[in-house]
Amino acid sequence: MTISDGTSTTPTNPATADAAAGDGATPLTIRPPTVDDGGAMWRVARDSGSLDLNSSYSYLLLADHFSATCRIALLGDDVVGFVTGYRLPADPSRYFLWQVAVDERARGRRLAGRLIDAVIDEQPEITSLVTTVTEDNAASRRVFRRWSEDRDATLTEVSGFEAHHFPDGHEAEPLLVIEGFRN
Ligand SMILES: CC(C)(COP(=O)(O)OP(=O)(O)OC[C@H]1O[C@@H](n2cnc3c(N)ncnc32)[C@H](O)[C@@H]1OP(=O)(O)O)[C@@H](O)C(=O)NCCC(=O)NCCS
Repeated sequence: MTISDGTSTTPTNPATADAAAGDGATPLTIRPPTVDDGGAMWRVARDSGSLDLNSSYSYLLLADHFSATCRIALLGDDVVGFVTGYRLPADPSRYFLWQVAVDERARGRRLAGRLIDAVIDEQPEITSLVTTVTEDNAASRRVFRRWSEDRDATLTEVSGFEAHHFPDGHEAEPLLVIEGFRN
């Protein structure tokens, strides 16, 4: 299967996505999810290999209530990636990125970064991004480092959810803070 490099982020205009794909290519599109996509997001999380799999209910909730700050990537009609998150209720200029995942078949094309772009570029009020990443998640750390570098932003790491906060032996989740990407 050929994946088009012409990722479309014009979800309401599938014709544009098809045009960007070129002959013989499967179009890759990015758009906000609807509740109908929540199940597929859960499946991508389940198959990702390293994400905490939350309840299926939580993905429906994110797709339905937090669609503006979540995105899905589709290869043809298949959901192959997503980013979930929300603006902090106490500080809506700060975006909390909860999870980002890309199916193995769509990896290697910086799709995670493009999913993050899609949220941030459409929400100019967001001026900082925070997320938690375990120490050993090299691919994820690289995604955020690269995204920050591409935007001449600063990335700092501070204490986040510590091991003792978790009731189930979960490892610590340090907090990455990315700022300055609107400069
Ligand atoms: C993290 C993830 C979303 C990235 O997917 P992607 O956008 O296709 O990422 P790419 O394959 O294009 O790689 C992005 C960067 O990470 C690097 N990378 C990829 N896998 C890596 C690994 N195992 N170790 C170190 N670096 C890695 C790539 O070299 C690339 O670096 P570059 O930008 O300097 O070239 C994907 O690996 C995934 O779904 N992982 C499981 C879920 C997860 O851990 N999510 C993050 C926690 S919320």
